[in-house]
Amino acid sequence: MAEPRKILTLNAISARGLARLPEHYTVGGDIADPDGILVRSANMHDMDIPATVRAIARAGAGTNNIPVKKLSERGVPVFNAPGANANAVKELVIAGMLLAARNIVPAISFVEGLTGSDEEMHKATEAGKKHFAGTELPGRTLGVIGLGAIGSYVAEAAIKLGMDVVGFDPAITVDAAWRLPSQVKRAENVEDVLRMADFVTLHVPLLDATRNLINAQRIGAMRPGAVLLNFAREGVVDNVAVIEALDANKLHAYICDFPANALKGHAKVVALPHLGASTEEAEENCAVMVAEQLADYLENGNILNS
Ligand code: MLT
Repeated sequence: MAEPRKILTLNAISARGLARLPEHYTVGGDIADPDGILVRSANMHDMDIPATVRAIARAGAGTNNIPVKKLSERGVPVFNAPGANANAVKELVIAGMLLAARNIVPAISFVEGLTGSDEEMHKATEAGKKHFAGTELPGRTLGVIGLGAIGSYVAEAAIKLGMDVVGFDPAITVDAAWRLPSQVKRAENVEDVLRMADFVTLHVPLLDATRNLINAQRIGAMRPGAVLLNFAREGVVDNVAVIEALDANKLHAYICDFPANALKGHAKVVALPHLGASTEEAEENCAVMVAEQLADYLENGNILNS
């Protein structure tokens, strides 16, 4: 008879993923002495992780909310779902690029602020039309820093939109990059990407080596009027340096997927509530991938993506 297993969920995990766990598993948010944990974004660094836990599965790509090193010393693997939400993030990055290129957010605020009769507002529209005129993407260069699944998906989409793409990854060689399209120009380092790009998008994990990867000095290497997109992790960019660069008109816009007091209310910042992977499809894909890995490990001892 199959051994009973208990899985603690620290976040809502898609039902399609949970259905991949064997029937004899008990799953829930209030479970004592679990064999495994399924987590999305909950911060586990201060959590007292029960000694019974044999594996942890993160329904997403990044594992910076989990004390991976401490767990590996205990022999507890941490699984993740590389690529499972890459399409969702890619779509939001492209949306972010278009928002910035066409000045959509300040243009909406401009219209919201118009007063008077319809005729008066239409007249005022002329000024807005001129002030918020934008740029098109074909022929512009997108710099992609981080060439895992998400970076490669974004590169591919940008090429399809007629953009030139230059890429670099601080941790892996471009040849090891995930399905990177051959048209992507290979840069030697971060600075090379920054010098060449009109739009720069970041897709690296948050590690000691990538904290403040984009700092004042590196922003100095960027093209005047460039757009910075951060759908990776907040700590990869120095917020203060970005604000200074936006105020000095060095950068045109900062589009990011996190709230931060330093960025709040700035007219050239668009900050989203970590929406990159928040689609029904991505949530299902991630949950299915990690539930299968967790069960395969608990039942058969197999390790994939840890
Ligand atoms: C990721 O690392 O893939 C994202 O943070 C996923 C999420 O939003 O949960």
